[in-house]
Amino acid sequence: MAERETWATRLGFILAAVGSAVGLGNIWQFPFKTATTGGSAFVFVYLVAALVIGLPAILGEFVVGRRANINAVEAFDKLKHPAWTVVGALGLLTGLWILSYYSVVGGWVIRYMAGSVTGAYFATPAEYFGRVSMGWEAIAFHAGFMALTASIVAFGIEDGIEKATKLMVPSILVILVGLAAYAFTLDGAAAAYDYYLSPDFGYIANNLADIVPFAVGQAFFSLSLGMGAMITYASYLGDDDSLPADGSLIVVLNTFVGLLAGLVVIPLLFAQFGEVPSGAAGGGPGALFVSVADAFAQLGGLPGKALGFVFFGVVLVAALSSAISLLEVVTSYLVDNYGASRPVVAFGFAGGLFVVGTLSAWNTAWLGWFDTLAYGVLLPLSVLLGVIFVGWVYGPEAVDEIKKGTGGGETFATAWLWSMRTYVLVGVFVTLYLGVTGIYE
Ligand code: PHE
Ligand code: NA
Repeated sequence: MAERETWATRLGFILAAVGSAVGLGNIWQFPFKTATTGGSAFVFVYLVAALVIGLPAILGEFVVGRRANINAVEAFDKLKHPAWTVVGALGLLTGLWILSYYSVVGGWVIRYMAGSVTGAYFATPAEYFGRVSMGWEAIAFHAGFMALTASIVAFGIEDGIEKATKLMVPSILVILVGLAAYAFTLDGAAAAYDYYLSPDFGYIANNLADIVPFAVGQAFFSLSLGMGAMITYASYLGDDDSLPADGSLIVVLNTFVGLLAGLVVIPLLFAQFGEVPSGAAGGGPGALFVSVADAFAQLGGLPGKALGFVFFGVVLVAALSSAISLLEVVTSYLVDNYGASRPVVAFGFAGGLFVVGTLSAWNTAWLGWFDTLAYGVLLPLSVLLGVIFVGWVYGPEAVDEIKKGTGGGETFATAWLWSMRTYVLVGVFVTLYLGVTGIYE
C-alpha cells in the first residue's frame, strides 16, 4: 500500500479543522437560534457549552484519530477494541446522511450568489425562495455543490484539502470582519447589539431546560463532532502536535466565527426590519434565504447586489470547507482499506449522495426530516458512544495520547479524562434523550 498522507504543516491541520467546523451551522443556524431562545441568553449558554462540553469532546476525537493513524471506521479496531468499530461506522453513516442535504443547502447558496448579481430575488424574496429551493433548479445546484466538494477531495490531503482550506478559512475570517464593520455603521446596530450581546441571566435561569440541550446540540454539530470528521483529520497528524492547544484554538475560532456571523446578520436585519423577523427564527430555511436576502433587497441597487454576492460567497466557502471534511471520512476509509483510487471514490460517493440528496432538493419537507433525525438522534448517539469509549474504555491510554508532544501535563490530562467520564457524558446523554423524546412526542 502507498504511504499514508499527512498534513504538511501544523497550521494546515488547524485550518482544515476550522474549515470543517466553520460552516452553515455558524452562519445559517447559530445567529438565528438566538431568536427562538431569548436572544443573547442562547449566545451565552452556547459559549459555555462549546468550551465546557465541546472542547473535551473534540479532544476525544483527536485522541482516537491520531493514536490510530487510520480512518474513523478502522480506528477502533486498530486501538484493539474491534467491537467499537460500530461507533466509527455510525459516525461515517451520520456524516454521509448529513452531507446529502447539507449539499442541497450549499446549492441554494450558489443560486443566491448568482441571484445577488442579477437581483433575481430582489422583487419578491419569499416567492423566489419557494421557487428555487425545491425541484429541478434545486437539484441542479445541489449537483454543482457536490461536484465542487468532490473536486477538492479528489486532490488528497496535502494538495487538495490543505491547500484549499489555507485559502478558504482566512478569507472567511477577513471578509466576515469586513462585513461586521460595515454592519456596525448601520442604523439599528445599537439595538441589534443589545439584543444579541446582553444576556439576561434571570431568563437563562428560568429556561435552562430549553436552552441547554439546544446549545449543546448546536455545539456538537458546529464542531463537526460525531461524524468521524475530526477523527479522520487527526489521523493525518504527527505526534509532536499539542492536541489541547490545537483543539482550543479550533474551538475558539469556530465560536468566534459564529459570533461574528451574528454581528453581521443581526444588525442587517435590525436595520431593515427593526427586529429578527419571525420567519428567521430558529435558523430554518427562511432565515438566510428570505430574511437576510430581503435585507439585501431592501438595500437595493448596486450596494444590495454587491453585499449579497459577497455575503453568500462567504457562506459558500464556509459550507464547502465543511462538506469536504464529510466526504473525506468515507474517502479515507476506502483509500486506506482497499487502496482505491481517491478521485474515483470521491466522485463515486458524491454521485451516490447526490442521488440521496435529490429527495431533500425535491421537497424541503424531506430536508427537514433528514435534519431532525440527524440532530435529534444520530449525532448525539454517535457522540455519546464516542465519549463513553474514550472516557471509560480507552481511559488511561487516551491520557497518554493527550500528553504527547507539547500536549497537556498530567493534571490537565486527568481533569480532561474525568470531564469525559462525568459531565460531558451526562450532557450528551441528556441531549440525546431530549432529542429522541422530542421527535416521537
Ligand atoms: N460544522 C459544520 C457547520 O457548522 C457542519 C459539519 C458537521 C461539517 C459535521 C462537517 C462535519 O456547519
Ligand atoms: Na461550526
